[in-house]
Amino acid sequence: MAEGGLSRTKMMLSFIVLLCASITYTRAIDTISANQTIRYGETIVSPQETFEIGFFKAGNSTNYYIGIWYKKISTGTVVWVANRNRPLTNSSGDLTLTLQGVLILRNATGNVIWSSTNLSTPSVRNPVGQLLDSGNFIIHEDGDTDQENPIWQSFDFPTDHLLPGMKFGRDLVTGIQRNFTSWKSPDDPAVGDFTALIDTRGFPQMILLDGSKTIFRAGPWNGLRFSGEPDLRPNPIYNFSFVLNEREIYYHYNLIDNSIFTRVMLGPNGNMDRLLWVDSRKEWTVYLSPRTDNCDRFNLCGTFASCNINDSPACQCLKGFKPTSPEQWRVADWDQGCQHGTPLNCGPGEGFNLYSNLKLPDTQRSRFNQTWTLDECERVCKNDCSCTAYTHSDITGSGSGCVLWFGDLTDIRTFPENGDDLYIRLPPSELDVTRNGKSSSGGGQIRIIVPIASVVLVFILVCILLYYRNKRKNGTQEGTNRDECGHESINNSENEDLELPLFSFSTLVTATNNFSLNNKLGEGGFGPVYKGVLEDGQEIAVKRLAETSTQGLHEFKNEVISISKLQHRNLVKLLGCCIEGTEKMLIYEYLPNKGLDSFIFDKSQSKLLDWPARFKIINGIARGLLYLHQDSRLRIIHRDLKVSNILLDSEMNPKISDFGMARSFGGNQIEANTNRVVGTYGYMAPEYAGDGIFSIKSDVYSFGVLVLEIVSEEKNRGFFHEEHNNNLIGHAWELHKEGKSVQLVAKGLVESINLSQVLRSIHVGLLCVQRRPEDRPTMTSVILMLGSEGPMPSPKEPGFFIGKNTEDAPLFSGTYDTSSTNDLSITILNGR
Ligand SMILES: *[C@@H]1O[C@H](CO)[C@@H](O)[C@H](O)[C@H]1NC(C)=O
Ligand SMILES: *[C@@H]1O[C@H](CO)[C@@H](O)[C@H](O)[C@H]1NC(C)=O
Ligand SMILES: *[C@@H]1O[C@H](CO)[C@@H](O)[C@H](O)[C@H]1NC(C)=O
Ligand SMILES: *[C@@H]1O[C@H](CO)[C@@H](O)[C@H](O)[C@H]1NC(C)=O
Ligand SMILES: *[C@@H]1O[C@H](CO)[C@@H](O)[C@H](O)[C@H]1NC(C)=O
Ligand SMILES: *[C@@H]1O[C@H](CO)[C@@H](O)[C@H](O)[C@H]1NC(C)=O
Ligand SMILES: *[C@@H]1O[C@H](CO)[C@@H](O)[C@H](O)[C@H]1NC(C)=O
Ligand SMILES: *[C@@H]1O[C@H](CO)[C@@H](O)[C@H](O)[C@H]1NC(C)=O
Repeated sequence: MAEGGLSRTKMMLSFIVLLCASITYTRAIDTISANQTIRYGETIVSPQETFEIGFFKAGNSTNYYIGIWYKKISTGTVVWVANRNRPLTNSSGDLTLTLQGVLILRNATGNVIWSSTNLSTPSVRNPVGQLLDSGNFIIHEDGDTDQENPIWQSFDFPTDHLLPGMKFGRDLVTGIQRNFTSWKSPDDPAVGDFTALIDTRGFPQMILLDGSKTIFRAGPWNGLRFSGEPDLRPNPIYNFSFVLNEREIYYHYNLIDNSIFTRVMLGPNGNMDRLLWVDSRKEWTVYLSPRTDNCDRFNLCGTFASCNINDSPACQCLKGFKPTSPEQWRVADWDQGCQHGTPLNCGPGEGFNLYSNLKLPDTQRSRFNQTWTLDECERVCKNDCSCTAYTHSDITGSGSGCVLWFGDLTDIRTFPENGDDLYIRLPPSELDVTRNGKSSSGGGQIRIIVPIASVVLVFILVCILLYYRNKRKNGTQEGTNRDECGHESINNSENEDLELPLFSFSTLVTATNNFSLNNKLGEGGFGPVYKGVLEDGQEIAVKRLAETSTQGLHEFKNEVISISKLQHRNLVKLLGCCIEGTEKMLIYEYLPNKGLDSFIFDKSQSKLLDWPARFKIINGIARGLLYLHQDSRLRIIHRDLKVSNILLDSEMNPKISDFGMARSFGGNQIEANTNRVVGTYGYMAPEYAGDGIFSIKSDVYSFGVLVLEIVSEEKNRGFFHEEHNNNLIGHAWELHKEGKSVQLVAKGLVESINLSQVLRSIHVGLLCVQRRPEDRPTMTSVILMLGSEGPMPSPKEPGFFIGKNTEDAPLFSGTYDTSSTNDLSITILNGR
């Protein structure tokens, strides 16, 4: 759980370990008696030497403070500071217990810097100050054994630490409110930004403030734990309880095994972590963090909505409620929250639905009565039109007591387990028929309704096809005839008006610095790619083909010329080729950005591609592929479409690279069958990987995988869900079946998504990866579906090719550098 805060906390800890480097121990006593003074270097130590009180210097600062720290372990962990806001500027100062039983700290010039406030002023005769092994410094009458009610105790004035036995909360009789306030920084114990307190305005709850703003709510005590802290469970290290009566409201915990050290600290960064001393490692480790994820951000989802960290987007309106502003809600702006689907009018038919596994809403505007039953609770709530919800105040056993909420319900989250029940007032139309049922749940879910492909779709398809056919008849052809490098050109024997620049080997040797490793951009399926700069300054990418092709020179030239005719803004432009001796090279335009894989599979880079950018990329790839499949006369099947073969130009336009390669260099060119399978595991359609049958539909399959990867930032290969050992496709399919496709979306994308586009994309992705090639859409319909709001067919079960066992087998063709990347294109010699 506490992973997130761990490293930060570790950093903090190492700071704190430094804290007391300057403490020197000259004299230690166990009590301070009236009129006695201690100075810098002198300390008071608890009987078992667990804690120590004295002067210390905080971190790097030059200031001095009175504080309490662990003595036995971890010298330097300061748990309490007296004069946190008024430091001594040098080590001269004295701490005196007055005859009245007041502890006073004076600086070198004799000014009072700090004193223990005297609340009650009993006539003290012989006060003594004593540090207990709990870390509590108490002032009491000498010989008075009642250490529960001392004249003064440091536990009543906590700083940033909740130690075993300390009371966190309010004493309603004395009015003492024990808040915890963070240090300003590891160097400065002064009151910092964060305060943790038990808010007693309604049903008591624990909240964390940053300044005066609530940033986290652990929630009310439900009898077993704070409602928002389901991980607070009985454990072998400490026991805990919450006291709520007319005199006191507090949380406290005690050690079960006194040889273990644990503390709760509110760090300068606002983390309120429970730390545990690990003696073998001599360090504090985080045992429990109440704040763990985004859903712990106070009121992230607004009113009547629930945050579920497993949903994506995390915020969902509660069942029976709808977004207050659907436009803003759609773009993950949840501030306005949700409202009743049908407004309440306080009519007689109104009632309550049960919502389960929740963190109870903010109790600031709530009332409670610990003696009422749930029925009484419901009656009271029903009779008060401003009462919006109710539940047990104590869930122990079969539950007891009553909490009533008034007004909007805020800061709710849904837990997978260990959450609370809440009964929310709803209009008659929304009420569950079976009142006691577990029929309603916390987070509403988005259901995708997918009607069967309709006549409309077919009609549009026909139109599009006709359009493209006309276009081709009109001879629209983008960009031809280039000879920009002024190199020798070769003419196609069919005397087409296209020339392909022929680069000389020596030109490329110069341009790529003799194919130096520094210039190497990567390793594609057919050989390494180098960056080069021509004499005129033009940047190029040179693909040096592995010397395996058995193709004759003539065929090679013809192939290259064919490929060079493919001109589309979403295809990488082929500038020329080089054929000399055994060397065969292709020269492409150079794109400064790396492959799409270096963006979406990289935590920091992925931020650069928000949803609109990705949607543009998905559409661009689709158009490029459509061009290959249909618009070019060649009907190129890419055969190795994958994320790393998508390059991005400076404006993040996608460009497909490596197209036509399989056709030219991968073996024979029969459409239906090949004895060499070229492709990349994870992207290969099952019929292709298994039987070597390839068609444009195997490209469509790879495109589907690509879309799912772009949306989820997960690799299809290498993704295994803990629960069902599925790859990404399987996972997407499971989510789709449950109507939870939105959970596939990468966390980092959530802020920028357009929900309908994302859901369409996932849906299209799933249509593309269907098992039977005939079921998969063509790229034409893919583009149509992505770009419209029209209905889509339901995807059937996807086809997987589980390359799990075979991926490490020596199937790689010997000419490839198999160690360079785990995403290598592969060539399998099919056994027939
Ligand atoms: C003390 O100062 C040094 C150098 O300025 C710094 O690296 C270190 O983190 C500081 N320590 C604390 C506890 O602030
Ligand atoms: C307290 O200490 C001061 C000076 O240290 C001394 O003058 C005074 O007599 C002491 N009073 C008692 C009651 O011990
Ligand atoms: C602290 O400051 C006071 C006044 O500036 C000075 O008299 C005293 O000697 C200083 N103490 C130390 C330890 O430097
Ligand atoms: C002692 O505190 C007073 C009041 O804050 C201040 O004016 C004085 O300079 C301090 N003396 C020293 C030595 O810090
Ligand atoms: C404590 O209270 C008594 C009586 O109200 C008062 O005389 C005394 O000055 C107080 N002491 C401090 C340190 O505030
Ligand atoms: C504790 O926090 C509450 C709420 O901010 C505030 O009213 C109260 O004064 C604080 N108590 C102490 C002792 O700081
Ligand atoms: C914890 O356990 C001890 C010993 O069993 C018991 O005395 C104490 O009351 C318990 N404390 C809490 C907070 O439950
Ligand atoms: C709870 O309700 C009972 C009976 O209605 C009443 O006597 C009691 O005062 C109430 N308690 C509180 C804290 O309001």
